[in-house]
Amino acid sequence: MTERHDGNQIQNDILDMFLHSESEAVSGEQLSQQLGLSRTAVWKQIKQLESYGFQFEASPRIGYRLTFAPDELMEPLVKMHVANESTLGHTVLWAPDRESTNQTATALARDGSPHGIVVTARQQSGGKGRQGRIWTSPSGGMWFSVLVREPCALSQAADLTLLASVAVHRALVSEGVQAQIKWPNDILVHGKKVCGILAQMRTDGETVEYAVIGIGINANFSAELFPPEMREYATTILDTLGRPVFRPRVLGHIINELSTIYRALEQGVGGFRTVREEWKANAHTLGRKIQVRMGNTVIHGVAEDVDDNGVLILCDDSGEKHHIHSGEVLFSAAEQV
Ligand code: BTN
Repeated sequence: MTERHDGNQIQNDILDMFLHSESEAVSGEQLSQQLGLSRTAVWKQIKQLESYGFQFEASPRIGYRLTFAPDELMEPLVKMHVANESTLGHTVLWAPDRESTNQTATALARDGSPHGIVVTARQQSGGKGRQGRIWTSPSGGMWFSVLVREPCALSQAADLTLLASVAVHRALVSEGVQAQIKWPNDILVHGKKVCGILAQMRTDGETVEYAVIGIGINANFSAELFPPEMREYATTILDTLGRPVFRPRVLGHIINELSTIYRALEQGVGGFRTVREEWKANAHTLGRKIQVRMGNTVIHGVAEDVDDNGVLILCDDSGEKHHIHSGEVLFSAAEQV
């Protein structure tokens, strides 16, 4: 749990003081006394926060006033939107650069970090997608991973990502994004991918010991930052809404939804079954002609339904039904997506 003791905590404490000061100036003396830091150390922290986009007005003998806060996924900003009863998001570990939030969260899980911590980053240099793909993660996106301990039985592991897509879908819709869910757990807008989910877990016999739910949302940047071929199938919230969203609020909302959904799963009263109708009402996949690649095999057909366990029912060109547990859904070239 080394991260808790780095600059993160001091910065969070400083930001908390400013955010709760109702735009009043906070004196250097106040900061240094309450935080147990020298005035020079306080000044250095302020300079670092400025390098992250915060703006302060400094007046001699009066102190500092926070005049602008960027919409980074930092703990003090995110926690203003996390419900008191949430079991997730009590700790949010932000960093300007990480290789991959999933990688950090997995290392923290191995070190014994508690259920519910959320790891975030302004940008990722080695973001991981499914099937070992690279996940392009520039500044402006929402790159985060949630650690959940003993969330469910191994037999329900697939529910973790299916349910996460429902949580993200709810939060994006409430921001005015016309989001749809692509089986098993991508979020699309006008047929283009805006969010991907990668769960990595450690199992112990029949239970999931812990899972790291990694969520990447192409939020406040333009798709022009993507390589040209990627723009064919990926988009961003900024491009589709024509305006940015306030990322700490969106993350707070996702955390609250996830907390409720995962708590029910953990207590044995939840699972995909309980959100199936909502999932179906917002599915992009159903009724479409698709191809599913499973290993080296590709099955062509129409996606007919999703059952209580989140299994996709595909009717192939000869009328035979296939139950697809996992795999890769590719839309056929003939299909307009
Ligand atoms: C996919 O291929 O659709 C899954 C993409 C998952 C990307 C997110 S970004 C935050 C977290 N950290 C990673 O390295 N990957 C996930």
